[in-house]
Amino acid sequence: MKDKIKLLHEKQAQSKMGGGQARIDKQHQKGKLTARERLHFLFDEGSFEEIDAFVTHRCTDFGMESQQFLGDGVITGYGTINGRKVFAFSQDFTVFGGSLSETHAEKICKIMDLAVQNGVPFIGLNDSGGARIQEGVSSLGGYADIFYRNVQASGAIPQISAIMGPCAGGAVYSPAMTDFTIMVEHTSYMFVTGPQVVKTVTNEEVTAEELGGAMTHATKSGVTHFTAGNDLIALEKIRQLLSYIPQNHKEKTPLLPFSPKTEIREELCTIIPDNPNHPYDMKDVIRGIVDNDSFFEVHKDFAENIIVGFARLGGRSIGIVGNQPLSLAGVLDVHSSTKGARFVRFCDSFNIPLLTLVDVPGFLPGTDQEWNAIITNGAKLLYAFSEATVPRITLITRKAYGGAYDVMNSKHIGADMNFAWPTAEIAVMGAKGASEIIFRKEIKDADDPEKMLQQKEQEYKDKFAHPYLAAQRGFIDEVIEPKHSRRKLIKAFALLENKKVRCPDKKHGNIPL
Ligand code: HXC
Repeated sequence: MKDKIKLLHEKQAQSKMGGGQARIDKQHQKGKLTARERLHFLFDEGSFEEIDAFVTHRCTDFGMESQQFLGDGVITGYGTINGRKVFAFSQDFTVFGGSLSETHAEKICKIMDLAVQNGVPFIGLNDSGGARIQEGVSSLGGYADIFYRNVQASGAIPQISAIMGPCAGGAVYSPAMTDFTIMVEHTSYMFVTGPQVVKTVTNEEVTAEELGGAMTHATKSGVTHFTAGNDLIALEKIRQLLSYIPQNHKEKTPLLPFSPKTEIREELCTIIPDNPNHPYDMKDVIRGIVDNDSFFEVHKDFAENIIVGFARLGGRSIGIVGNQPLSLAGVLDVHSSTKGARFVRFCDSFNIPLLTLVDVPGFLPGTDQEWNAIITNGAKLLYAFSEATVPRITLITRKAYGGAYDVMNSKHIGADMNFAWPTAEIAVMGAKGASEIIFRKEIKDADDPEKMLQQKEQEYKDKFAHPYLAAQRGFIDEVIEPKHSRRKLIKAFALLENKKVRCPDKKHGNIPL
């Protein structure tokens, strides 16, 4: 018995070494933590329980039988984060570059199944060269097993991927199908094929950083939702993110203790500039409304003309979608539409109520947008809002023009409560464009066409550049003073907390992808 226990301890010690001390040192020299250290910092102290530590690969080709490492390059298990259960895997780059063998995949699939069956979030710490080349179709099949489970789990439990090293092939497609991706700056890359293959196929010379580094995916492709300066910051961000999200699709949004006071925020009264063409920062509006320091932005560096993120309002987790007048005047374009749509769908999947803040001049015109399918992509945001059944509240702070008024969670597409500040302007289009079209003849025939245009613009503004026509029709439930926004919104979300919607019978809708 004693011998068996000694052997067990020896084997466990060996499994903790990954691919050997020299490789672990190399990992540290690159500024990366090891797979086991990452799990240590991700989970509540001492809570992580490893399973399948003795699994080894079954490959006998290319001399692989003599290269066996306990755990086969991935640590899997469960524990708690902020006291709530979570399943996770952590790939060990020191073992065959963290590459995925058939058995490595089986270990991940086992905990994915357990996570779904038990309604527990699933986190992947990825550091992998993709499918293990020596195993051929067995490793490819292993990835497909994971992809399939990613999709089955989608909308059932939250799935979060951290990219913590060079990740290629399957190691990027699985994260792409999870809900959120976070990349570590300068030590992580994501690409379908690396710079060498790119050079061979397209003759393009590009560095790994330019091709698939954290900032590339944060700003250009939008593949990653978050970046982090190092491994520890990335792990802390995951812990923070989870605090806003229910454990599964059946749970309600997390609610922290809250006792209301007056909830008046005077600072909201001075944000909108006197000149309607001047920008302001919608994040000031968000910070003025939500609980102190609770705004947690998602996709911060991508499509900055729309803001998405989580916050707490009266202790309740909510999702926020807001136009950002500071960037492209807050216009809706291809990227901002898809960014918004994906976030709305996440919130709807997991019962997170939505607050939409509107200041939008319309959709961005032009060949670039049309040829890149602003029609289909804009429709994604329209579709996502329209199908969402969570409590949905809208606050129009300033412009709500054209189709973008409809799209940005208008009453007509199922919003529950629609508020507007007195500065709201709700119309088919801006005053200048509208006057040039509907008063074309009068302007052309006038002795002073410029003066006539200005006069007609003013007429149009007087008629439409306010929220009261919409309020008269009931499209806006209430025009509120900015300083009362927080109080009104807390009350409205509390009112809607037991909202139930019956949807027409169907298999699933067909979002315009
Ligand atoms: C087996 C692998 C491996 C792999 C890396 N290694 N990738 N072993 N299968 N896929 C091994 C290396 O041989 C090396 O072993 C060790 O891991 C570290 O790799 P390095 O290349 O030294 O590290 P680095 O310079 O940091 O480069 C990392 C890398 C590169 C960018 C990930 O290794 C790479 O390009 N790997 C191949 C990527 C790839 O094409 N994968 C297949 C994708 S296909 P030694 O013993 O020398 O230290 C796929 C299909 C899925 O995944 C389906 C998608 C839809």
